[in-house]
Amino acid sequence: MEKILDLISKEVKAAFAAAGYSEELGRVTISNRPDLCEYQCNGAMAGAKQYKKAPIIIANEVAEQLAGSKVFSQADAVAPGFLNLKLTESFLAEYVRGMRDCEKFGLEEPERKETIVIDYGGPNVAKPLHVGHLRSAIIGESVKRIARYMGHKVIGDIHLGDWGLQMGLIMTELQERQPELVYFDETYTGEYPKEAPFTISQLEEIYPTASGKSKADPAYKEKAMEATYKLQSGVRGYRALWEQIIAVSVSDLKKNYANLNVSFDLWKGESDVHDIIPGMVDYMKKNGYAHESEGALVVDVKEETDTKEIPPCMILKSDGASLYNTTDLATIMDRMEQIGPDEIIYVVDKRQELYFEQVFRCARKTELVLPETKLKFLGFGTMNGKDGKPFKTREGGVMRLEHLLRDINEEMYEKISENASMTEEEARATAKQVALAAVKYGDLSNQASKDYIFDIEKFSSFEGDTGPYILYTIVRIKSILAKYKEQGGDAEGAALREAGSVSEKELTMELTGFNAMIEAAFAETAPHKVCAYIYDLANAFNHFYHETKILTEENAEKKEGWIALLVLTRDVLETCIDLLGFSAPERM
Ligand code: ARG
Repeated sequence: MEKILDLISKEVKAAFAAAGYSEELGRVTISNRPDLCEYQCNGAMAGAKQYKKAPIIIANEVAEQLAGSKVFSQADAVAPGFLNLKLTESFLAEYVRGMRDCEKFGLEEPERKETIVIDYGGPNVAKPLHVGHLRSAIIGESVKRIARYMGHKVIGDIHLGDWGLQMGLIMTELQERQPELVYFDETYTGEYPKEAPFTISQLEEIYPTASGKSKADPAYKEKAMEATYKLQSGVRGYRALWEQIIAVSVSDLKKNYANLNVSFDLWKGESDVHDIIPGMVDYMKKNGYAHESEGALVVDVKEETDTKEIPPCMILKSDGASLYNTTDLATIMDRMEQIGPDEIIYVVDKRQELYFEQVFRCARKTELVLPETKLKFLGFGTMNGKDGKPFKTREGGVMRLEHLLRDINEEMYEKISENASMTEEEARATAKQVALAAVKYGDLSNQASKDYIFDIEKFSSFEGDTGPYILYTIVRIKSILAKYKEQGGDAEGAALREAGSVSEKELTMELTGFNAMIEAAFAETAPHKVCAYIYDLANAFNHFYHETKILTEENAEKKEGWIALLVLTRDVLETCIDLLGFSAPERM
């Protein structure tokens, strides 16, 4: 379906043309004086100079053309030359009927469907997820869902950190503790045990211990580097042990991400590109892209127009080891070969912006990507505590994601079991659902690049710009619809009618912005636009609800029209929260 602003702009453009002016002047926008009108057009002011006429004269001539229009019930020229517009109820009803009858409420699929890879999550194996990983997961998941809803082919890749020194550290510490493990016996040729010799909680304790020791003891660090080297050069026992670490860690990660309603199509890691790095390095050398600098292999990426220093991108260290850069570049090469994406979007902490600038430039310069391949860095800001500093536990340590969610679920459970008469089981399940909405909406309603304050009291409030408020609104609609059905009504089959009151019309007009909003949220990778839209929509609904006695209305036609409007509002709200990655309960 055509976007409503385009559709009504057409009408005004035709009026400009009929009055003898350039139709370009007829662009309509949403009114910035909702007390006076619903939409406005400022074209007469823009045309005044060109036509050497007072804007009000032009506006008057155009308004005359619009008299009797099927689209506008009001088209007034007002000083100094605005056109104040109001829609006819019939045009508006026609538009929302179209929305309801169309797939995706009239959102049109793009002519060319793109293949998009989204690189998000980015956890590191054997390290617990902490709040720093929350934003990448929440934002990436939503960006993925929005792009997919637009009709694109989208592949989410977790890009595990599974290959660096951290793996060597863990192995070294395991060897210290259990030197008899068969994995370390390099003469062993038999099969390795199926069971891992550790649990996830042991792993999570081993890593920080090892990391601490290596900082204090150079010999220990040496050993860890040796172990990393053995792993990377394919020593059997090390590979087998590494696979065990990955398996234990990944199954724990899957559980954690499932709790967040976040999922990935690919569980690839840095290790997956290990074997293609030598070929990539050769290619960069042969084509003269990479050169040696102080023993290391680098690609220059600075450009004349730079206003700040962009250092060269290092491909290999002087000891020949690869780096974070190297795996990211090889991953780009791999994605281009295996998937051939039109775009790759990285959802990573914005402090890595310069790093990605280097990587992107290097990928372009070395032609790992096509000139038209889009590489986008969606950097997110820090999640701060109420003190304005990065979010910590009460003791000042790093907050594990699991614990954060546990605390919020608990708080929400208290709140819900206070109000509603639910079984313990339902209250627990509902609390989990509402808590997730609180956390996700609290994050996504901010522009991703901004830092924000994680204020759980504010986020979990049932009032204001929060996830629970949106859910509460949906639950309210569902409860009215359920009662309507109890009265014998057919809510799903109800027919939309022309709006009969201001609040009903305002709710209807909010609904019509859906397709334009989704297009913008996709184009700007901006889930916060979905949040802003549903907040306005929920407010418009609640305003209508407070002014209208729906269930006791005696005029059956009127009532049916309202019910149909509620059904559409519910469907649009539920679609939007699904794009944000959460869902609404039946009651709360
Ligand atoms: N594992 C990395 C970290 O913890 C994040 C990975 C981001 N993605 C990427 N392609 N580099 O910082």
